[in-house]
Amino acid sequence: MDKILFSEQQILDRTQLIANQINQDYKDKQLTLIAILNGSVVFFADLIKKITIPMQIDCLGVSSYEGTKSTGNVVFRQNKLQDFTDRHILLVDDILDTGLTLKATTEKFLNETNALSVNSCVLLSRKNNKHKLLIPRYTAFEISNEFVVGYGLDYNEEFRNLPHIEIFR
Ligand code: XMP
Repeated sequence: MDKILFSEQQILDRTQLIANQINQDYKDKQLTLIAILNGSVVFFADLIKKITIPMQIDCLGVSSYEGTKSTGNVVFRQNKLQDFTDRHILLVDDILDTGLTLKATTEKFLNETNALSVNSCVLLSRKNNKHKLLIPRYTAFEISNEFVVGYGLDYNEEFRNLPHIEIFR
């Protein structure tokens, strides 16, 4: 049990606060939330159920990790994005480490769509990483350097189904 970093209830409580903020910030704006797959899938599903303003969703498969290490290479599983004219984009990801994944994804949306804005929302962010390439607009929790799994986060595609977040040992 001591491996558990955040329980399901802690995550849901924090997600509610973030959803409240999104409801305020994007009131009267056309909002599309984009799930960065696969890691954000559980967080994304819980987050969108708590958003009460009109919104749309879409998904994008992105990968940069093998095991517990970044490859340093961001790979998109889909090349062509929708147009998103007049819409505000909020990218939703599981964890921000160096920021490489979200920076590359943000740039892809800015360069390849007509979106009015591109911001991001992450479940976790590493607090020790002082040289992040991107600061997300919303962060649920900050963590240290430990590798974590559960609630969508994986080690070689396993453990995504755990209902909480735990330290991988
Ligand atoms: P960057 O460095 O691009 O890394 O910000 C973000 C991506 O790295 C993966 N990542 C993890 N995945 N447990 C995971 O399951 C972790 O502790 C972890 N740290 C980084 C993740 O895919 C994220 O999108």
